[in-house]
Amino acid sequence: MPAIVLLGAQWGDEGKGKVTDLLGSRVDAVVKFNGGNNAGHTVVIDGEKYALSLLPSGVLTPGCTPVIGNGVVVDIGVLFDELDGLAARGVDTSRLIVSASAHVITPYNRTLDKVTERFLGSRRIGTTGRGIGPTYADKMARVGIRIQDLFDAEGLRAKVEGALSLKNQVLVKVYNRRAFDVDGVVDELLGYAERLRPMVVDTPLLLSRMLDEGKTIVLEAGQATLLDVDHGTYPFVTSSNATAGGACTGTGIPPTRISAVIAVVKAYTTRVGEGPFPTELLDVKGDRLREAGAEFGTVTGRPRRCGWFDAVVARYAARINGATDFVLTKLDVLTGMEEVPVCVAYEVDGVRHEEVPMTQAEFSRVAPVYETFPGWDEDISSARSLDELPRNARDYVAALEKMINAPISAIGVGPGRDATIQIRDLLR
Ligand code: GDP
Ligand code: IMO
Ligand code: MG
Repeated sequence: MPAIVLLGAQWGDEGKGKVTDLLGSRVDAVVKFNGGNNAGHTVVIDGEKYALSLLPSGVLTPGCTPVIGNGVVVDIGVLFDELDGLAARGVDTSRLIVSASAHVITPYNRTLDKVTERFLGSRRIGTTGRGIGPTYADKMARVGIRIQDLFDAEGLRAKVEGALSLKNQVLVKVYNRRAFDVDGVVDELLGYAERLRPMVVDTPLLLSRMLDEGKTIVLEAGQATLLDVDHGTYPFVTSSNATAGGACTGTGIPPTRISAVIAVVKAYTTRVGEGPFPTELLDVKGDRLREAGAEFGTVTGRPRRCGWFDAVVARYAARINGATDFVLTKLDVLTGMEEVPVCVAYEVDGVRHEEVPMTQAEFSRVAPVYETFPGWDEDISSARSLDELPRNARDYVAALEKMINAPISAIGVGPGRDATIQIRDLLR
């Protein structure tokens, strides 16, 4: 079984962490390929709740090797805190591997994320403020600091000096903030080196060898398709590729070794931060989804914006990612709704669109066209097969599957690992 990509089909928080966990012990390694501690994945195992951010969800599966791929941006202090937090709860994190080529989130990039957001005012992105955007910007501008630089003190100092010679000017003269001291930054980063050293590996080589040995590797995305820097609702996106292509560049695993793409999609839609959201509900119905689905950000605690399922978006995600399977999560949250509308198309300036419009100017003013399905009242959290779902819930799932144009192979009916209807083996 070769490499399998697992990613989000909407604006994030679809339940990717739970689905990775569900794949369980048949997976030999889980590689995070993009993003950083802007991600937040809640996994519930036997009633115990684990909130993961930088670590791939596979860290909770005994025997599975968690890998931080080269496409990730790493806040090393946060990484160590997360490892310590899990160790304190008895989770063995000793197998963690970190790519030598992953970029490091530096203190000045955390500051720059916050001050640029403030500077943007009403045009802000609503970032998580973790330094993600500035760190990816440095990567592309070729002034980034990488994990491997921590093992070359002289080279590190030269790079920090080079980066700060410009950034300090901007911080002081544009943003009226204090300059960063080169020594302070270098000392902080070098202070991490010793603990980090044993975790750092040539990950593309290791992963290639694992695949040669017939091991199963899951490539896990942070964020989601509509937050992808190329294919999302730019500029209201994150600064990395959260779509299937990012799984190759972010791990060093070539496309020819990827056999499946699992897209996780919520039975409704949520979004955190700014940007267009066609099916957003700004009324009590949105509040009801937020309450029933506990839709508050894992990372920042912000209330998530909530709305109905958007089949145009899901179809788009199926196409952009070449999804072979969908996992539909949080169907239980819709229980008790009298009716459940689904956006089946958009209208832009009186013209019907079956696909996401070409420009963001159009996307920002689409009017959703709804088809409404009857709801259900029965508690579905203990259903473990499609037959155990009430008729209306089954019809809702069947309708979504038809609109997405890809098979729904599992359905989430609760946060726990077991609260899942498995229709098709995801690792077939
Ligand atoms: P991720 O970022 O995609 O991993 O998703 P998050 O963990 O940020 O958000 C998903 C939330 O929904 C978490 O709190 C999960 O425990 C929870 N969850 C996942 N699947 C289900 C489900 O099928 N039903 C319910 N009620 N909750 C779920
Ligand atoms: P998971 O992996 C939901 C959003 C932020 C903001 C935008 C840019 O848990 O699905 P950034 O800090 O990345 O520069 O912020 O992206 N965002 C997420 N929204 N889930 C996430 O991750 C997110 N990661 C970033 O809210 O709108
Ligand atoms: Mg999340």
